[in-house]
Amino acid sequence: MNLFDVYPINDVTIVKAKGSYVWDDKGEQYLDLYGGHAVISIGHTHPHWVKRIEEQLEKIAFYSNSIKIPLQQELAMKLGKISGKEDYQLFLCNSGAEANENALKMASFHNGRKKIVAFSKSFHGRTSLAVAATDNKNYTAPVNETDNVIFLPLNDEQALEECFKKNGKQISSVIIEGIQGVGGINVADVSFLKKIRLFCDEYGAVYIADSVQCGYGRTGKFFSHDFAGVNADIYTMAKGMGNGFPVAGIIIAPHIKPKHFQLGTTFGGNHLACAAALAVLEVLEEEKLIGNATLVGKYLRDELEAIPELKNVRGRGLMIGFDVPEELKDLKKNLLWNQKIFTGEAKPNVIRLLPSLALKKRDAEQFIESIKEEIALLQETAN
Ligand SMILES: Cc1ncc(COP(=O)(O)O)c(C=O)c1O
Repeated sequence: MNLFDVYPINDVTIVKAKGSYVWDDKGEQYLDLYGGHAVISIGHTHPHWVKRIEEQLEKIAFYSNSIKIPLQQELAMKLGKISGKEDYQLFLCNSGAEANENALKMASFHNGRKKIVAFSKSFHGRTSLAVAATDNKNYTAPVNETDNVIFLPLNDEQALEECFKKNGKQISSVIIEGIQGVGGINVADVSFLKKIRLFCDEYGAVYIADSVQCGYGRTGKFFSHDFAGVNADIYTMAKGMGNGFPVAGIIIAPHIKPKHFQLGTTFGGNHLACAAALAVLEVLEEEKLIGNATLVGKYLRDELEAIPELKNVRGRGLMIGFDVPEELKDLKKNLLWNQKIFTGEAKPNVIRLLPSLALKKRDAEQFIESIKEEIALLQETAN
């Protein structure tokens, strides 16, 4: 049997990982500034995370949600404390798309409405509602097409206001990434997020903060939406939550009340997933990694801004993007093959940095040296 060929892949096999480094099957070491797509939050194979998962595995890995699982409550308490949303309610699931799907559904259960407002260049996942709210036709099958999603330009306050004035009573939810990831590291303006809060309050819509990629401390605050100083009604989270162990969740404001059977999952919130998620929060706190994301992120941004060839350096904390001019289009590839550094990308010409929040300053320094070297080499060959 062959694999279903839906991923363009790099010709490299990773067999070992530790902290911000990975090794291939030939023993070659790579600096990982991609974090397996923003997933590695506390560092690859962190010893506390390994230990907690191993210990849990020895006791019980899984039982369904038909019984009490105290680890879920422990996780809810810890998450409430670290995120500052102590009065919210946690629902656990398995992936970012599922988290967004559940959030959009929950909003509709809550206010009985059907319309969703989403934004240009958004990415919310590949399940039916999440993909319908995703602004990329390549991911949307005909069966996902719906009139229920209204796309507006990101950060256009006037368009938002006009949309609410016209459709306000039909709008169930507004879903927005605090910083768009797949769309190319586009930061939602603080004033725009505040306006979303205002209109959602005025018209009874639910504000959904997609924090799947920009959440879990990556930007220097637990949720990047927190920079706006207003609360969303539902936050969705996944990637960094398990440091590679598949676990996701949504937290729901107290005014949204649950009814039995509205949401459900077989695997979500299993013992092993909770142990992994707890280990992540424990390490985030113990090693002060959210503060590290701010510090190392600032260093990287300052240094990148000082490289004249790179344009429009943007982002927050350790979620950074910049535009690469056409003549340096091989930069990402060369960083990987010549310098052994993994970075992320967004079409057409954006490099994305999504490293572990434990990235060390000396690794960031190495990256800056390497990128300068590769830019110089590309310029030399062009001349
Ligand atoms: C902002 C955002 N939302 C949702 C998703 C979907 O997450 P998953 O791939 O875990 O379904 C992603 C994945 O890249 C994402 O970046």
